Amino acid sequence: MKIILFGATGMVGQGVLRECLLDPEVESVLTIGRSATGQQHEKLHEIVHKDFSDFSAITGSLSGYDACFFCLGVSSAGMTEQEYQRVTYDITMTAAQTLAKLSPDMTFLYVSGAGTDSSERGRVRWARVKGKTENALLRLPFKAAYMLRPAYIQPMHGIQSKTKLYRALYAVMAPLYPVWKALLPKYVTTTEQLGRAMIKIAKLGAPKHVLENQDINSIGNGRISSRPAGPQRSRRTDAGKDCGSTNKEP
Ligand SMILES: NC(=O)c1ccc[n+]([C@@H]2O[C@H](COP(=O)([O-])OP(=O)(O)OC[C@H]3O[C@@H](n4cnc5c(N)ncnc54)[C@H](OP(=O)(O)O)[C@@H]3O)[C@@H](O)[C@H]2O)c1
Repeated sequence: MKIILFGATGMVGQGVLRECLLDPEVESVLTIGRSATGQQHEKLHEIVHKDFSDFSAITGSLSGYDACFFCLGVSSAGMTEQEYQRVTYDITMTAAQTLAKLSPDMTFLYVSGAGTDSSERGRVRWARVKGKTENALLRLPFKAAYMLRPAYIQPMHGIQSKTKLYRALYAVMAPLYPVWKALLPKYVTTTEQLGRAMIKIAKLGAPKHVLENQDINSIGNGRISSRPAGPQRSRRTDAGKDCGSTNKEP
């Protein structure tokens, strides 16, 4: 399986990249980022691209991939609605539309977040914008598209968040992770489980197109078998079947 990865320098993307490089079924990974990851691996190829509003300069390198793992994203804290929408919706859709044209046989996986608002009409800004992004992705003519909505993600294997505040938070939370996991298993996952689940879904599909935190864990742990969901026009119907998620931004 050949994979394109966006957001590989971030916390989620680093975790997903690690699992891809370890998995014998992943033949190669192409990262696209504003900077390189700094990692060296025989399976890893990197494109440093500065303008995420236009990928036309690199389209020649984007064909022939089986899946795209889209882990690029930001917290809306301190951002205007316009800026958050530019990063969350505009960049994601520009990349996805480019890939859908080049490789309609590709499976597209988007890391969204628990509490995402599929109605696009709720009061919580980040949840509305993520919902709009998910809905637009589900309408693109990919072989399949899956929206992953993790809640709290514990970084594993020394992976760090890019955000200073989050780094401090994760350092405090790390020793308590086994407690959260025991008390709130539906609301916690790890970079490892998320990465494993994404690889499995890219390979085998998943029972629905919008996957909540516990779905991610079940697939990542091999507790539910992956099987393709229904056709594209039915994708939006499983949006909003939430696991009691809140609108707290992940
Ligand atoms: N962390 C969590 O616990 C958690 C939980 C649920 C969902 N999520 C979601 O997962 C996604 C990734 O989160 P994360 O924690 O990995 O974030 P992160 O550590 O801040 O990483 C963000 C990634 O996005 C890239 N990026 C940000 N703005 C960009 C821009 N304007 N142009 C190009 N690239 C840009 C960054 O690249 P640079 O290196 O170039 O800045 C980096 O690779 C987000 O959508 C987030 O909402 C995270």
